[in-house]
Amino acid sequence: MDLHLKDRRILITGASSGIGLATATMLAAEGARLALCARDQDRLRAVTAPLAEQTDVVTASCDVTSKQSVEDFVGRAVDHLGGLDGVVCNAGRSLMSTVEETTDDEIREEFDLKIFGALNVVRSARKVLASSDAGSIVVVNAILSRQPESRLAVTAAARAGLLNLSRSLANDLAVDNIRVNSVLLGLVDTGQWQRRYADSNSALDFAQWSAEIAADRGIALGRFGTAEELAFPITTLLSPRSSYITGAALDVGGGVHRYI
Ligand SMILES: NC(=O)c1ccc[n+]([C@@H]2O[C@H](COP(=O)([O-])OP(=O)(O)OC[C@H]3O[C@@H](n4cnc5c(N)ncnc54)[C@H](OP(=O)(O)O)[C@@H]3O)[C@@H](O)[C@H]2O)c1
Repeated sequence: MDLHLKDRRILITGASSGIGLATATMLAAEGARLALCARDQDRLRAVTAPLAEQTDVVTASCDVTSKQSVEDFVGRAVDHLGGLDGVVCNAGRSLMSTVEETTDDEIREEFDLKIFGALNVVRSARKVLASSDAGSIVVVNAILSRQPESRLAVTAAARAGLLNLSRSLANDLAVDNIRVNSVLLGLVDTGQWQRRYADSNSALDFAQWSAEIAADRGIALGRFGTAEELAFPITTLLSPRSSYITGAALDVGGGVHRYI
């Protein structure tokens, strides 16, 4: 099926690793033109070099928590691509820590990253997305936003706020025919989990180690997801073929969610 993404101009934050990179790779294969950011531009350039051979790619160093940095990146993307049709608010990390263990400053930082990491991008890109005939925003969020865990309490609270905000944005931006949807992740094998595996000094290999965590967390399919398995729903929501989907939140967690 043709997803009608050829020559569509898509901006992705956090594109140097994991889900952001897999989404950029899938979109490049569909013929989309891309604006990609991460804080470490050298790593971003190195890993996205193969995509630049396939399609038009502009990269920039950008910290999504800085309004100025995001405005500069969006401006550069628009100058280079001539506009935007889609945005993926993906950059981030999670904070594995209980409320007791987390300092006030760490809590503020987490809310800053989750809320402003998306809001700065949406605010900067809104006007230009309104000029597209198929403006679409996908917010990468987590099942934690609806199903908190004590080891991730602060992250879960910030994600709940982001989910609520994303729903409001879907209403507010509909007037400009911009769709806003969330993809809610479970546990996905990316840089985040590879770093945790390295820190664990486990004697198990990654597959065994992650299978134990999958069983402990009650993932119905018994394993972590892959970045490509997340890239597909994100790509689908960006497609103009999803033109009647807005304000939705899609669980992509292998059945880890326990709500109906
Ligand atoms: N993997 C999971 O199980 C899981 C579960 C739930 C939610 N998520 C969320 O899914 C998103 C993608 O995560 P991932 O698993 O693909 O992680 P990842 O492999 O660690 O990739 C994270 C990406 O975000 C960039 N980044 C981090 N902080 C940034 C900032 N302040 N400004 C700009 N770029 C930033 C990183 O590059 P730099 O470090 O160079 O900036 C990197 O490109 C994140 O928001 C994450 O919290 C992941």
